[in-house]
Amino acid sequence: MTFPKDFIWGAATSAYQIEGAAQEDGKGPSIWDLFCRKPGAVGQGASGDIACDHYHCRREDITLMREISLQAYRFSIAWPRVLPQGKGPVNKKGLEFYDRLVDDLLAAGITPYVTLFHWDYPQALHEQGGWLNRDSSDWFAEYAAVVVNRLSDRVQNWFTINEPQTFIVCGYQHGSHAPGERLEFSQVLLVAHNVLLAHGKAVQAIRSRAQEKPSVGYALSVNPVAVPATNSAEDIQAAQHAFFANAQKGRMNNSWWTDPVVFGRYPEDGLVLFANALPAICESDMKTISQPLDVLGLNVYFGELHRANAGGAPEVIPFAPEHPRTSFNWPVVPESLYWAAKLYAARYKLPVIISENGMSNNDAPSSDGAVHDPQRIEFLQSYLRELKRACADGIDVRGYFLWSLMDNFEWAAGYRERFGIVYVDYPTQKRIVKDSASWYRQVIAANGALL
Ligand code: FCB
Repeated sequence: MTFPKDFIWGAATSAYQIEGAAQEDGKGPSIWDLFCRKPGAVGQGASGDIACDHYHCRREDITLMREISLQAYRFSIAWPRVLPQGKGPVNKKGLEFYDRLVDDLLAAGITPYVTLFHWDYPQALHEQGGWLNRDSSDWFAEYAAVVVNRLSDRVQNWFTINEPQTFIVCGYQHGSHAPGERLEFSQVLLVAHNVLLAHGKAVQAIRSRAQEKPSVGYALSVNPVAVPATNSAEDIQAAQHAFFANAQKGRMNNSWWTDPVVFGRYPEDGLVLFANALPAICESDMKTISQPLDVLGLNVYFGELHRANAGGAPEVIPFAPEHPRTSFNWPVVPESLYWAAKLYAARYKLPVIISENGMSNNDAPSSDGAVHDPQRIEFLQSYLRELKRACADGIDVRGYFLWSLMDNFEWAAGYRERFGIVYVDYPTQKRIVKDSASWYRQVIAANGALL
């Protein structure tokens, strides 16, 4: 029982969370640049202005990746760095940064996985209606084409959009993420529809322009994963039902984000529940949205235990107060990784890849200068064992990206949450490889056999 021979071991980051250089070399502002300036919007009044200064420390960071023996690195491209106005003139220097990043990764023997959009939306487009504007999907396709034209001679692995549900629900419904809007539910569904269209048009742009045969994916947040409380057929069915059912307004379920993309239709229960808030949905939109995909990316952090109650309906079993949690207060539920892979593969019949998984921890250097993070090693070990179980069950899991390569700007939580396997001392930008990174190196070397 082990991982497949060609399983990919990597780590992930995103542009706004690590790059810094927010106003350098012609980059245009993103909605996150502005959101961070709103009093009270982000913890400690923090911003990604400097973050991990990866824009300048790129080489050193790749050296670290190599030390850890990463086989792949998932990063995102800052749309307004490439197109400062979101469309129109290309910023040569911005595009060059990613060009060099890709070259340096390849020279280090690390395969680049590019996410086109990880939330740092161009402010200029936001001012033209942003995702509410029907043209927004064409803007995204234009941007995708610029990037693909430039990088696809060396990049084969693409993700269109990272966690649509998170940036839409947090950013446009609850206002806790950029751009801090609290739109009516019908407008939130319109944003979602336009984002799905953007995904579809970007897949078309990648496929029609790629110089090497591409592998195209879409990265979803699947949290909380519905984990069956026991192995009984009833509990498994209850969890599966809860995982894909649209039962609440406002927290659109997994199926809302994935059925249109894979099946070309919205899930029936959501259409009924949201009936008076739906955008115009036409046949040709659904065709555009449902472009063939090579892989589904799953970002997995935690789960929720489900069982079937006496009537057979799903019921959540609350965690005991002493249940282990990360510093973000997310419950530690290793089986989430198994069930996310299993339930997604069963419903969508596509290979899956874990595009994010990891934990935040209160890490700090010890008196010996090292950063010891046994909690993270324990966390990763228990989750990865569950992934191994999924592979042993014959589920087609292509790889695993640990979130994150290094501590970084954790959105509304600022710098409080440390997710990295590399510690970042922000005032000096010094990096310290944590114990978990050394442990991960051994896992990679053995292709998971140690787990
Ligand atoms: C995910 C995001 C990623 C990071 C992790 C902790 O939802 O995609 O940027 O913030 O959570």
